[in-house]
Amino acid sequence: MIPLAKPVLGEAEERAVVEVLRSGQLSLGPKLAEFERMFAARVGSPYACAVSSGTAGLHLALRAVGVEAGDEVVTSPFSFVASANAVVYEGARPVFADIDPVTLNLDPVAAEAAVTERTRAVLPVHIFGYPADMPAFERIARERGLAIVEDACEALGAVHADGVAVGGRGHPAVFGFYANKQLTTGEGGMVTLADPALGERIDSERNQGRAPDMGWLDHDRLGFNYRLSDIACALGIAQLARLDGMLADRARVAGLYREALAGAEGLELPCADAGGNRRGWFVFVVQLPRGVDRDETVRALAAEGVQSKPYLPAIHLMSFYRERFGHREGEFPVCEDIAARSVALPFFPEMSEGQVARVEEVLREAIGR
Ligand SMILES: Cc1ncc(COP(=O)(O)O)c(C=O)c1O
Repeated sequence: MIPLAKPVLGEAEERAVVEVLRSGQLSLGPKLAEFERMFAARVGSPYACAVSSGTAGLHLALRAVGVEAGDEVVTSPFSFVASANAVVYEGARPVFADIDPVTLNLDPVAAEAAVTERTRAVLPVHIFGYPADMPAFERIARERGLAIVEDACEALGAVHADGVAVGGRGHPAVFGFYANKQLTTGEGGMVTLADPALGERIDSERNQGRAPDMGWLDHDRLGFNYRLSDIACALGIAQLARLDGMLADRARVAGLYREALAGAEGLELPCADAGGNRRGWFVFVVQLPRGVDRDETVRALAAEGVQSKPYLPAIHLMSFYRERFGHREGEFPVCEDIAARSVALPFFPEMSEGQVARVEEVLREAIGR
């Protein structure tokens, strides 16, 4: 079976984890601050706060910028469900706007049209590692008095056209370290940001609302347990050391796919880097030609030993979002068309030329192109 994803873990990770186990300090130890410092430096951000998942990071970042019950947050329906869920956690409403058919990111024009007097923030998602049009969202936020939280969970290694790394623009940006990500700590996440006051709030709220001096007895605000253990941080540090190599390998595999699948009529490949934006390769998602049965294709691939999955489904059409917010088909036609035809193919740094060729063969056979 050619798996969908596979992390790169070696002796460096083993040594790092064993070192923490031997130290006896498994959480809130020195690896936390070290991982945060190194990660912040990596994306060019003044601060970084490590958290237990990307979802936890999104929740705390939204709270930090002031999202409260009754507020609206404009965001993309073409994302992993967590970006919208984090808004709902606070009793706020995710207001979806359609996506750009090329980059598959939230369309700034549609997003601006969705702003109302209740909008508190805009939450663009750098989907599949391709940078969202942040200069456009920054203008909208400035003019409409909105906060920005970036969902960068899929976008480590991505760079904006102006040379700023995703996560380095100042407003809170949230990364995820689940096992399929560019960098993994098993589970984990990181919020990068420039405002030390927001950083302090996130540091406190991830740790039960404790004061920065870590006094045990008084908790001056509501908090959560969204901490990342030192074991996970040590893993993250070891992964950071090999990140450039892993990103280069992902880009290599993407190049192989691009060559292999070129010319398959009607099959849409991930957009090429344009205008100076650079993708941080996370997944290789294709849109099947119109008229090809997506679920049947996924089954045909599996029967030939190739894992794949429908990725991503439109959030507004999920049962919870239909029931809670009354969403229906037809609201966001670009997103719905893309979501209905999208399939993630096996994609990981150590994927060989032979494995890509095998996926190509099986996919072409399945879709008849
Ligand atoms: C776009 C996006 N947002 C949020 C998340 C949530 O991250 P986590 O699984 O670390 O909570 C993910 C992870 O899959 C994601 O891809």
